[in-house]
Amino acid sequence: MDRRIFLKKSMATTALLGAGLVMPSCARNLRSELMEQKALLTISGVEQKTWKILHYASLAPSGHNSQPWFVEIINENEWIIGADAKRRLPQVDKTNREVILSLGAFIENLVQAAAATGFHVDVEVIARDRFDSRIARVNLTRAPLVDIPLKRLSTRRTVKTHLLPRELKTADVTAFSKLCQGHLYYFPRGTTHSDLMAKESVDNFKRQFENQKAIEEAAHWTRLSDKDARKFRDGLTTDGMEITGIVGWFVRNFMDNQDVMGQTFRQKGIEKTIKQAGEGAGWLVITSEGTSVEGLIECGRRFQRMALLAREKMIALHPMTQTLEEKQGQKKVRENHEAGIIPQFMLRVGYLDKYPDPVSLRRPVDWFLAKSGAI
Ligand SMILES: Cc1cc2nc3c(=O)[nH]c(=O)nc-3n(C[C@H](O)[C@H](O)[C@H](O)COP(=O)(O)O)c2cc1C
Repeated sequence: MDRRIFLKKSMATTALLGAGLVMPSCARNLRSELMEQKALLTISGVEQKTWKILHYASLAPSGHNSQPWFVEIINENEWIIGADAKRRLPQVDKTNREVILSLGAFIENLVQAAAATGFHVDVEVIARDRFDSRIARVNLTRAPLVDIPLKRLSTRRTVKTHLLPRELKTADVTAFSKLCQGHLYYFPRGTTHSDLMAKESVDNFKRQFENQKAIEEAAHWTRLSDKDARKFRDGLTTDGMEITGIVGWFVRNFMDNQDVMGQTFRQKGIEKTIKQAGEGAGWLVITSEGTSVEGLIECGRRFQRMALLAREKMIALHPMTQTLEEKQGQKKVRENHEAGIIPQFMLRVGYLDKYPDPVSLRRPVDWFLAKSGAI
């Protein structure tokens, strides 16, 4: 390590240990600061309705918060939803499975935001292959307003800590299962399947942390400093990784993407994953029929329908995807399910006492609008 950086980090560590004296305010919400004021602005040339619906669509979750979408406006009521090749995760999502699932979540948000604005949306999947650029065509037609609170879309978030061990109520599982059209399985804490999923999540997380290329990819999508978070408005911030308080402040100010690839960060990541895997009420698995683009889009939509209701039920959902990304994990999944059952989401689940506000950032709509074709 360069002597200057070493000194800077040593001084910071000393400051950290003397926390009470130097600690700045840790109360922060970059998301509301950046996104709420932006939400008031419109973009020249784009209708207010279009902007609003696309803004809500973009609040969808995505792997590493890579926001792999672009939108091409054909005319005021016909749009193409595309997958931005620059936002793929080739190391951990080799088959583009998670990109398509994330686009499914984006489309579900779009459909619900449009319904709440007085439009019905017809969705036609046009991609034949997961690597196609243009994925779906959406057509909007005027329709009676549907009573969907847009707050559901703007307050949904992934929650990774403080999940309670209390078993999910049957009524909640049934409601989720309906939204997933029956493609949902709940494995309560303490069951063989739940224990297996927790173990596999940790084992496959460790595997990824030993894979230099996967680590480099994660570092590429990590926005440790506020400067980077403001500049890119995507990826994983300290808030998104739930590195909070003084540790979050330290990481934001004294660590960089090089550190993400270092031993300390890896070790902390593994410790955190072990703790997380041990928390909560068990696991939910969402399955798909087949692995076509249509099947995956539908599965992403199922997940999102459920995620949009989770907050009202005080339920945290935390996708832990490493098992589905790694060869050994996929093999274990295959061995433990019948051939027709294809898990696409493995979600740690649990009730919360307090639901935190969303913190992950999004690019403004004009950043993901394409003039024509791919961006
Ligand atoms: C397909 C998919 C896979 C994901 N995999 C993981 C994962 O393995 N671990 C994790 O902590 N979060 C995972 N997430 C959650 C994202 O990191 C999260 O959605 C993103 O950072 C945006 O944050 P938000 O959901 O709070 O808006 C995944 C999300 C999606 C849609």
